[in-house]
Amino acid sequence: MAVKAKKAPVPVDKLNETQAKVELVRLALEIERHNERYYQNDAPTISDAAYDELRKRSDAIEARFPGLVTRDSPSQKVGAAPSGRFAKVPHSVPMLSLGNAFSDEDVTDFVERVRRFLKLGEDEIPAIVAEPKIDGLSLSLRYEDGELVRGATRGDGFTGEDVTANVRTMSDIPHRLKGHNIPAICEIRGEVYILGRDFIGFNKRAEKEGIQLAANPRNFAAGSLRQKDPSITASRPLKFYAYAWGEMSAMPAKTQHEMIEWIHKAGFVTNPLTTLCKDVEGLLKFYRRIEQKRATLGYDIDGVVYKVDRLDWQERLGFVSRNPRWAIAHKFAAEQATTVLNDIEIQVGRTGALTPVAKLAPVTVGGVVVQNATLHNEDYIKGIGNDGQPIREGVDIRIGDTVVIQRAGDVIPQIVSVVLDKRPKTAKPYQFPTVCPACGSHAVREGDPKTGRPDSVRRCTNSLACPAQAKERLKHFVARNAFDIDGLGDKQIEEFFNDGLVMSPADIFTLQKRDARAQKKLADREGYGATSVRNLFAAIDARRTIALHRFIFALGIRHVGEGNAKLLARHYGTVEAFRAAMIAAGEGPESEAYQDLNGIEGIGTVVANAIVEFFAEPHSVKAVDDLLSEITVQPAEKAKTDSPIAGKIVVFTGSLEKFTRDEAKATAERLGAKASGSVSKKTDYVVAGPGAGSKLAEANKLGVKVLTEDEWLALVSGR
Ligand code: IVH
Repeated sequence: MAVKAKKAPVPVDKLNETQAKVELVRLALEIERHNERYYQNDAPTISDAAYDELRKRSDAIEARFPGLVTRDSPSQKVGAAPSGRFAKVPHSVPMLSLGNAFSDEDVTDFVERVRRFLKLGEDEIPAIVAEPKIDGLSLSLRYEDGELVRGATRGDGFTGEDVTANVRTMSDIPHRLKGHNIPAICEIRGEVYILGRDFIGFNKRAEKEGIQLAANPRNFAAGSLRQKDPSITASRPLKFYAYAWGEMSAMPAKTQHEMIEWIHKAGFVTNPLTTLCKDVEGLLKFYRRIEQKRATLGYDIDGVVYKVDRLDWQERLGFVSRNPRWAIAHKFAAEQATTVLNDIEIQVGRTGALTPVAKLAPVTVGGVVVQNATLHNEDYIKGIGNDGQPIREGVDIRIGDTVVIQRAGDVIPQIVSVVLDKRPKTAKPYQFPTVCPACGSHAVREGDPKTGRPDSVRRCTNSLACPAQAKERLKHFVARNAFDIDGLGDKQIEEFFNDGLVMSPADIFTLQKRDARAQKKLADREGYGATSVRNLFAAIDARRTIALHRFIFALGIRHVGEGNAKLLARHYGTVEAFRAAMIAAGEGPESEAYQDLNGIEGIGTVVANAIVEFFAEPHSVKAVDDLLSEITVQPAEKAKTDSPIAGKIVVFTGSLEKFTRDEAKATAERLGAKASGSVSKKTDYVVAGPGAGSKLAEANKLGVKVLTEDEWLALVSGR
């Protein structure tokens, strides 16, 4: 289980002097620990934003209690930037990441998606640029009037670190752009990397000199770029390939490949393998060619990248969450290793799902020690895929088997095949339990109405009283993106639950009251003391006010992740409205409340049903109500933008001709509006294309404003 990072608990203005003193010491130690991980090991374990929060809190406490400032305070240590690290640089155009394709089919799908989104005719071919995906770190270089003014790392994509002094020492990076007609503002982006031979050379020297070795070329490049002393960066043979841009005051070209040519002429190194392809076949040919060349390139790559060539099309395609629709990374196959399956453990999740986990003899894959791998479900162990078709050629997995595992990027390790020659004679087919290992109740596979086959997941039927489910629900409740209570993580939930102290969410908020009356106090527990208990109660109190979307997410309703929780929060606005509507929606699919729920863009029938089922359980409603009597849920903020359609609800209907429905919805959402599937009194606009029927009629009946496609385009472009 992941250990939760500590976060600021009690508001600074509520601390008394003694608490402040304790807190300052704790913060100083924590900041020091993170500094060490960051500077010396180049292996930070918290985000920069979280680090800044720690510093901010420490500074704020010192500002309130100046008498508590000591020489050891983080504020008294010199650093180049006020944060003690590099200065922050906001990216005027965010530095986003890429979606992944793993198979030829994924690539075909990508091109098809592009065609569909753009509504291309049969004869319109979306030419696509293909290039290697360098395994380094991305960098944004800002030129003003042709002069390099700033170099910034990607950071979280929205804010990076100012590494200008360091990038000035890199020979691949021009200080001044070449050529005429250079746009006044020009941000060139690309990848910083190092050649394999330079990396090996460095590590050999490092070994001799007894300094820390770098784990891999990527880490080495990252560590070298983020040096406080630019002369160290200068001594490292960092290289840079330019492949993209950020803010541009004017565009020197109309296509991706011409832009790359232009960037090359302006003085950058661009990848000579970059190729313009005209169809999927061309892309796949490129992929295979690069895969073959991979070992001899001299630098690490982890796949290839495809980018739609026409920039006006890139613009139209836009982004979905943090990935462009106009580009995709086609990854190379993951690294593999062979090991032995020692055991299969069954975990019970908060929705009762029984998940088998492979316990492996530890083995290193791609530099990481792997001991667990997911086995997904019962069929997967048997060698049957989700579609009922054989996987691993129908070979089942048995305890004692020698298995090939693989890791791809951040993905959880998987078992890809079984080495049958090495199967012990005594190994028997695995018997998946039919009762819940936590509570002994029946565990069943419900039928999937869509496929008519049994659901691949076996679930414990005792959602009310299964201790494993209840415990997992509580862990989810206090998790980072839910209530996020400092000092109350998986470990504490496990202990408090087992001792009967916290059995439901509301119990968390009555803990202090009950502790006051209890014989055996929390402070007397092993591993606790007066301070930690005080801190825990303060952390709980700090969460008595919570944002609506966090509250909804925390309930742990099946299929309601953070994204859906936000949609629901924005739609219903207050917890009272949400609760009432969900109970009303239980009256049936015909009810207005159900229709309204199901009509929320992004909330499908499966999600709607799961929420309705949750609120149909009296014990869920009781748990929610008990909780609500302890806390305050803040109303959701409406999306704030200054666009002409911000906060409006739009319905698209009819066969649209000027743009696709997806494109229209994406535009609406980008500008802060909500695209809905059904017309109601709340609808602000109905955009009707030819052939619009009942929705148009409904709009006219309700007096909702109806727009043509052209009027819509004029509205969103502000014309
Ligand atoms: S294009 C909006 N092209 O991959 C997308 N990225 O997963 C801009 N990368 O953060 C990225 N080689 O660090 C692009 N030829 C290439 C790349 C590349 C490596 C990295 C880059 C980015 C990540 C995206």
